[in-house]
Amino acid sequence: MSNYHIKNLEEYFQIYRKSVQNPEAFWEEIAEEHFVWRKRWNSVLSWDFSKPEVKWFEGGQLNITENCIDRHLTTRGDKTALLFEPNDPAESAQHITYMELYRQVNKMANVLKAQGVKKGDRVCIYLPMIPELSYAVLACARIGAVHSVVFAGFSATALATRINDCDAAIVLTADGSFRGSKSIDLKGIVDKALEECPQVTSVLVAQRTSSNIDMKAERDHFMAPLLEAASDECAAEVMDAEDPLFILYTSGSTGKPKGMVHSCAGYMIYAAYTFKNIFQYQEEDVYWCTADIGWITGHSYIVYGPLANGATTLMFEGVPSYPDFGRFWEIVEKHKVNQFYTAPTAIRALAKENISFVEKYDLSSLKVLGTVGEPINEEAWHWYNNNIGKKESPIVDTWWQTETGGIMISPIPYSTPTKPTFATLPFIGIQPALMDEKGEEIKENQVDGRLCIKFPWPSMARTIWGDHERYRQTYFSAYENSYFTGDGASRDAVGYYRITGRVDDVIIVSGHNLGTAPIEDAINEHQGVAESAIVGYPHDIKGNALFGYVILKDEAAKRNPDEMRVEINRLISDKIGPIAKLDIITFVPGLPKTRSGKIMRRILRKIAQKDVSNLGDTSTLLNPEVVASIRDIVGV
Ligand code: WT7
Repeated sequence: MSNYHIKNLEEYFQIYRKSVQNPEAFWEEIAEEHFVWRKRWNSVLSWDFSKPEVKWFEGGQLNITENCIDRHLTTRGDKTALLFEPNDPAESAQHITYMELYRQVNKMANVLKAQGVKKGDRVCIYLPMIPELSYAVLACARIGAVHSVVFAGFSATALATRINDCDAAIVLTADGSFRGSKSIDLKGIVDKALEECPQVTSVLVAQRTSSNIDMKAERDHFMAPLLEAASDECAAEVMDAEDPLFILYTSGSTGKPKGMVHSCAGYMIYAAYTFKNIFQYQEEDVYWCTADIGWITGHSYIVYGPLANGATTLMFEGVPSYPDFGRFWEIVEKHKVNQFYTAPTAIRALAKENISFVEKYDLSSLKVLGTVGEPINEEAWHWYNNNIGKKESPIVDTWWQTETGGIMISPIPYSTPTKPTFATLPFIGIQPALMDEKGEEIKENQVDGRLCIKFPWPSMARTIWGDHERYRQTYFSAYENSYFTGDGASRDAVGYYRITGRVDDVIIVSGHNLGTAPIEDAINEHQGVAESAIVGYPHDIKGNALFGYVILKDEAAKRNPDEMRVEINRLISDKIGPIAKLDIITFVPGLPKTRSGKIMRRILRKIAQKDVSNLGDTSTLLNPEVVASIRDIVGV
């Protein structure tokens, strides 16, 4: 039995047992047998959750790109590494081999070096889903620069905040991006962001849309001629196991995004090992994850995990609705995709459309279907299972987070019996716990609790960039000696986990994590707004939608309310991005507050969900009368 490839349920249980009984011996064997190192480690693991400090493979040295690219060249040089499917189906797909990937990554690495980028420097990448994005990520890793990819749907303000937080002096972007029938002026957004980022001295621009853009002399350079001229050989920087590999921002419950820092070795090992098993990847398979590389799903399961296994990984530039709602299935047929990994929000959106969009295509290549990002509802699960998997491809409902670096709870397909809406069992090495209100671990089954992880795993984030105390406070202060996930979960009679959703001020809309605080901050910047509160409510397609309660100042209250709504949403779009726009904006005279002045979001949530059966005792509020007025206005 190989510990690296789990083939049945019995093996899963055996390997799981090993991994928790002796985690160091277990991970040491995986690290030794399946990865290439420049220098062996001195110690496998040292950890202290009270600080918190976690180190894996200390003393070891490696470069992740040698594991993802170089080592495959002799046996897989001509194999497709990246399969690029463009937005427009009339444009041909590109099959980028491991050899070609090696050349392109080295060229990009040399271009970065020529721009003065050195080991440890932060590089901000704001690119659409084109091959240059993958080259850029890997080129940073090649030279030991820390990449910070910002999803290219974020606004100029959000981009500027992220560039400044990690003090990047270089930004990689494109002239524009194609998304369905639209094109987006990415360079214009970067130009606007950089008005707030005086330290940025260099911008490299990929040409995708050939749109008219401003190029600022000295600062801005087109990538293509630089790449053309650069050498395709670049020695990999030798990195310490615990050196940072990348920063990726995620929303928190305060206004400032958290720059989660991931390390080189532990992240690589866990991303690779989970990829192999959770998708049961075989040498000839074509694997497709529909996420954007701007999110952790794309980092771990489009780029690093698949490439570390020598896989063929498909990268799709477009959207599921263009040119029509059959696009995903057309791509599955065209490239004979074997593993398909997407988000519940996409499944729900496609399930609403005519089934003929699915039936037109041959989906028989599919072997594994994945879902991630938010709880999948029963209806969507069955639609996916019946119509896409034809009840023959197991669904892996994978629970994890930006912070965890890799999948934490998931079935192993063809081994773990699946159960709709359950992420099922912890992956190898993962020790989950459910906590009760008093902070004690609940040991029994058939219970609900707050989901924690009791023991370190290799790919956990090591800190928040520039704010270790916030890292401690957010994840390690709620429960002693445990990482707190921010999620609620239940465990059934056999020990399967079901994630019920966030228990903090984060709302997941169409699979995107949104903190309420940054949205409220954006709204409150409007001259006419006195105060606001955002809550989520269930939505058919998006999972959750956003409901805003807004108190207007006297002058603004006299204005046309629809105009105010447009202005508020425009402000949110500018400050955060269109994904954070509110579905409903209700103007209210006040917000229910506790005596200490805290907004009672529970009440606002209930009203937004139109469920006032159980509002609880409102008499202790500072302003109980406001609840009746709000109910009147909302009509519940
Ligand atoms: C939050 C993390 C990790 C990739 C994408 C999201 C929710 C994630 C599931 C799932 C129920 C899920 C959790 C988690 N979530 N996967 N399979 N079932 N909920 O990463 O943006 O960091 O969000 O997404 O609430 O905490 P992220």
